[in-house]
Amino acid sequence: MELGSGTGHVTKDLLNLAGAKTAHGLEPSPVMVARAKKSFGDDARLTFEIGDAKSTGFEDASFDLVRMHTLLCHVPGPEDIVREAFRILKTGGVLAICDGDYNTATAQIADFDPLHQLVRLMINQNVTNLWIMRQIPGILLETGFELGACTGHGYVAAKEAT
Ligand SMILES: C[S@@+](CC[C@H](N)C(=O)[O-])C[C@H]1O[C@@H](n2cnc3c(N)ncnc32)[C@H](O)[C@@H]1O
Repeated sequence: MELGSGTGHVTKDLLNLAGAKTAHGLEPSPVMVARAKKSFGDDARLTFEIGDAKSTGFEDASFDLVRMHTLLCHVPGPEDIVREAFRILKTGGVLAICDGDYNTATAQIADFDPLHQLVRLMINQNVTNLWIMRQIPGILLETGFELGACTGHGYVAAKEAT
């Protein structure tokens, strides 16, 4: 399950990269869901539907893995979504969260670099919570999750930017 699946590309990765047999995307924007269905609708292993990650309507313990890829930074009340993920995950299931530590995002290479102002403008207009990845360990533990692997990746990379 991917919550906040957008155009569905990351949902598809659950098949190709994570080896899932089936994957489902939930996304509130009808435009995004239509785009995902148009792109991936011919693959029977992939399904998409309109919905809110805070109240998915799925039964308890429905999924082996829940993925959130750049979702939590955009929503007020991220703990509501984490709680819902806990509810719909099977016992022993995995919640995988990828998001930005936006407060440290910069392309600045000198004092007063104007590019830095552009990056901050983009972030301030698009990101609701700049500190989500620092808050998330506490939210996970309060919800009842055990913490697994936690890895950081720098914003600056040259050549292969994996
Ligand atoms: C930056 S996009 C990421 C899309 C996709 N996960 C990806 O990485 O390609 C964030 C997505 O979260 C969705 N979103 C916002 N609030 C949501 C909510 N309450 N429940 C589910 N999705 C939500 C937005 O509509 C948007 O498609």
